[in-house]
Amino acid sequence: MASVGFIGAVAVAPTALPSSRSAFVSATRPVVGVAAPPAVGAARATMMTPPPPGGAAASPASLKTDTVEGVALTASEPQNIADTVYDATVPDARGRYGRFGGQYVPETLMFALEELEAGYAAAIADPAFHEEVNGLLKDFVGRPTPLYFAERLTQHYARADGSGPRIWFKREDLNHTGAHKINNSVMQAVLAKRLGKTRIIAETGAGQHGVATATVCARFGMECEVYMGAQDMERQALNVFRMRLLGARVIPVTAGAGTLSNALSEAIRDWVTRPVETHYIVGSVAGPHPYPYIVRQAHAVIGAETRGQAVAKFGGAPDILIACVGGGSNAIGLFHEFKGDADVRLIGVEAAGKGLDSGEHAATMSRGSLGVLHGSMSYQLQDEWGQLQETHSVSAGLDYPSVGPEHSFMKDTGRCEYVSVTDDEALDAFKLCSRLEGIIPALETAHALAHLDKLCPEVEGNPNIVINLSGRGDKDVNTVVKLFHERGDTDVMG
Ligand SMILES: Cc1ncc(COP(=O)(O)O)c(C=O)c1O
Repeated sequence: MASVGFIGAVAVAPTALPSSRSAFVSATRPVVGVAAPPAVGAARATMMTPPPPGGAAASPASLKTDTVEGVALTASEPQNIADTVYDATVPDARGRYGRFGGQYVPETLMFALEELEAGYAAAIADPAFHEEVNGLLKDFVGRPTPLYFAERLTQHYARADGSGPRIWFKREDLNHTGAHKINNSVMQAVLAKRLGKTRIIAETGAGQHGVATATVCARFGMECEVYMGAQDMERQALNVFRMRLLGARVIPVTAGAGTLSNALSEAIRDWVTRPVETHYIVGSVAGPHPYPYIVRQAHAVIGAETRGQAVAKFGGAPDILIACVGGGSNAIGLFHEFKGDADVRLIGVEAAGKGLDSGEHAATMSRGSLGVLHGSMSYQLQDEWGQLQETHSVSAGLDYPSVGPEHSFMKDTGRCEYVSVTDDEALDAFKLCSRLEGIIPALETAHALAHLDKLCPEVEGNPNIVINLSGRGDKDVNTVVKLFHERGDTDVMG
């Protein structure tokens, strides 16, 4: 069972929002119970009010002052999702995306978050920062990545008369280290250098963020420690070796299921103890503000490039964007540019694991409820007492019981649709993409590809669909060999 406290989940009624900056900050104090890290001896957090079933909209009766461990949190924000309107300018000054986000952290980390927020604001006002980051993205990472026409997949989904959706890949798999993650690691490493930090920590699930972070640390000569769940170390052994080769120390996390969520918890515990010299490169649009914001900004290059490339290749904006969602960084990176284009349909694909009703999945948007995890309010997979549910996905990068707060906001406001895909559907798409396009996708990415099976027969006309090809599948070959063997896929097993 997962741990609780600031690092663990706390289910709250949708009204439990502090009403002002000072209340907001005070809500981060350990006594509140949503904020105390086990590392500093905090008590177990207790949920006082069960979440509404399925995390749905609060009924008017529940819109009242709520209490978490005896501390009143008074709502003064949009209290009912029906009142929540989409606003593309999020987050607000307090790091809120509607009712989501915030900084549910212990007092000891507030200084580090404030330092980061101020340091980032100063950096983006400095042309030298942009010059350094853009130079690295171009010559070290290999940007811009192509927008590639997936001709044979398009033919595969064509109607009998040859018409149908046109499928494009945004080739983040062609980045140095093989995934989108390095956009963020490069930007944060440059930022950490400006902040005078000498030590970098990170968490990783699929290992792509760990490899990207180890890579930039090698490039800058910085000490690097990566927390990784023990189960993930086994299924992503290749990436563990890559990180070690790059000079990083990989620290196994055996707590809980030994997956991404547990690794994130351990990384935060580490950061609490040594915030002065350490910069924590969070690997997705999760965690306390300003992480969901700065990680989004680092990946926004994906959508910005896509807009120009789409105009050049097919004369306008794409009609539909699809991306897989673990914490949500590759999806936000692609979507951010187009959030204000009301006619661009956004689709996030989560992991349905063995099926939504199996209890073994990571479909936070489909089955989550409101709560606090890893310093941020968002949807979580938790029981009625706020205990995290163990998740399952064939893909380590989607095996996470929460999601970035901006995604929760886009779900509530209807700006983005969230769907889910099972392990088996993802494995079929993994094979299909390899065979039709000569591109072996990451298992995470295969979830986004698998949704084409449902979407393509439903769409009308010839929409241009852009899929974020978030990473390449080399890291997954060991996992997939075993699974294809179990499934009896003789066509690939020989
Ligand atoms: C290739 C790839 N795609 C997607 C993800 C999911 O992360 P996010 O939702 O933050 O993009 C991961 C995570 O490790 C990944 O390695």
